[in-house]
Amino acid sequence: MVETARQFLGRDDVDSVEAILADDSIDFGDLVHPTPARGEAIFTWDYERSRPGLAKLYEKAKTSQWNGSNDLDWSTPVDPERVALEMAPAAAMFQQRMAELPGSPVARWGPKEWTQFQVEALNWRMSQFLHGEQGALICTAKIVATTPWIDAKYYAATQVMDEARHVEVFSRYLDTKLEGHYPVNPALQLLIDDIIGDSRWDMTYMGMQIMVEGLALAAFGFMHHVTEEPLLKKLLRYVMADEARHVAFGVLSLEEYYAGLGAAELRERQEFAFEAALRMRDRLMMHRVWETMGVDRRTVTEFLLGMRRMRNNPFQAALFSKIVPNCKKLGLLDAGDGWLRDRFTDIGVIQFEDAADTGEEYETFDEVAKDRAAG
Ligand SMILES: [Fe+2]
Ligand SMILES: [Fe+2]
Repeated sequence: MVETARQFLGRDDVDSVEAILADDSIDFGDLVHPTPARGEAIFTWDYERSRPGLAKLYEKAKTSQWNGSNDLDWSTPVDPERVALEMAPAAAMFQQRMAELPGSPVARWGPKEWTQFQVEALNWRMSQFLHGEQGALICTAKIVATTPWIDAKYYAATQVMDEARHVEVFSRYLDTKLEGHYPVNPALQLLIDDIIGDSRWDMTYMGMQIMVEGLALAAFGFMHHVTEEPLLKKLLRYVMADEARHVAFGVLSLEEYYAGLGAAELRERQEFAFEAALRMRDRLMMHRVWETMGVDRRTVTEFLLGMRRMRNNPFQAALFSKIVPNCKKLGLLDAGDGWLRDRFTDIGVIQFEDAADTGEEYETFDEVAKDRAAG
């Protein structure tokens, strides 16, 4: 582990408090964040529609477009505290454990503080969804340029439109229904910057469609399951229907490409997947939320890492429920000597290897067609 942690994150120890805090204090700017994009724009003169899986996905995308302005009822009144508390029962066990541990920074918290924490956590989650959607918008525009296949360029163009719509609806929900935004989480932005900065075209798919969107699909699914707020529930249902296609796009494209790669190249993809998983795990600490609640970053980092060493948080592990089976389907778990299987075992997420992968799942997610059929 020591060798790989240094190689990926520049840390001797994956759980180094100093390194996590250093990454977490990176400033991504108040208004704009420029980052280098690398890779070649590829023109292809092969207009042959030779990839039926991608062609089918493209047809589906064209008939599944929805309009965030008209298809969602923005006049719905929303009580942010009520929405936030809907998310609380799932977290309650974790919170109780946290409060009971010796030296807990939240030992004195009562219902008032926990409610405020949930409201801030909701603002934080929705803000990260918003920033992640912008990352997807930019990554997919890059894929249109860098992928060598015409069927993939067609499909990716529909995803660009989908992502613009997602940025639009999350931004509108935050602005008009909630009270408070958070800036992008540095672990998320570092990962997105790495994805955009990599010149190999398939790494954009690996980082965005498999890792970031895989995690988002699990997180949206959780929130959709627990919320009774009708506007948010429908917004998430529609976004998830799009995201299921996006993850399927990544799986279909990489299955074909990876089948032609050698052992050394596959190992690089395994390492990239693991690095992305580590970044996303750090992201889940919500430092800024704790800070808003008066608990400083160092205290909460040390505390959460201590809890992680005792037992992995099952709620956080569940966020990897799409990523691990998709990596398996791509042959990455067991390529070479099973290096990625060992790493996913180390971080406590390997139990999801046989969960439903997302290659075909999008067909059951066609929310727009269902609603149109229902009139
Ligand atoms: Fe999206
Ligand atoms: Fe997406």
